[in-house]
Amino acid sequence: MNTQPIGLFDSGIGGISIWKEILNVLPYENSIYLADSKNAPYGQKSKEEIIALCIKNTDYLIARGCKIIVVACNTATTNAIEILRARYDIPFIGIEPAIKPAALKTLTHTIGILATKGTLNSSLFAETSKKYISDIKVVEQIGEGLVPLIENGLIESEEMEQLLKKHLAPMLQNNIDCLVLGCTHYPFLIPQIKKIIGNSIQIIDSGLAVAKQTKAVLERIASLAPQQIGKHEVYINSKTDTLQTFLKEIENVHLAYKEF
Ligand code: DGL
Repeated sequence: MNTQPIGLFDSGIGGISIWKEILNVLPYENSIYLADSKNAPYGQKSKEEIIALCIKNTDYLIARGCKIIVVACNTATTNAIEILRARYDIPFIGIEPAIKPAALKTLTHTIGILATKGTLNSSLFAETSKKYISDIKVVEQIGEGLVPLIENGLIESEEMEQLLKKHLAPMLQNNIDCLVLGCTHYPFLIPQIKKIIGNSIQIIDSGLAVAKQTKAVLERIASLAPQQIGKHEVYINSKTDTLQTFLKEIENVHLAYKEF
């Protein structure tokens, strides 16, 4: 049994979609979530910049005694997880676009992937795609501009609707039947996406799989928390009110502004 916190980080509020899944699957755990919104979006940065930001976030979480780190960001995972695993002596859980489940489910043999430029251009994404996609057509789309709108609380804006319509048009033209959300910010857009693509296209994200994997690893290393009321800390490094609204359903959470 181990009461040390689970550490999570993302370029902002996106990773909260993963964090909520983790809290459902692991309700007794303590956790610390870092929202590096000062440096968002990660998706437009170079691999070297993304690695440096991941190291900075990890150093803070390790200094705070985290027992495992969830890289709650596809861009960070696909660009930096191998380096993090080699550098630190602590387990890391990452998140990658759910290509495999989509490839297994599609009947039209055409799937769509909406992700950041950093994720779609990464070599880890290229390797995973090669492994699971042979006779399937993949419509890749960079979700340019979506993360800043989400970070600024503009999910329900006209601007968001127009941008989503533009990004999703090639998917609809190509008759996809599965849409992979390859960025942890995008699950917050599911109602807006559904309004455009309807209900017959299945939306796939990796949140629950990541939560189950986190639990499996903690079980394996005998580091689950005992039955207790979990306490949670959230730190953000830019001044914004948006984060607060995403934390509503989480109990025992302390939010603070912090330089990191
Ligand atoms: N939420 C992140 C992801 O999963 C990063 C988005 C960004 O900062 O560009 O890709």
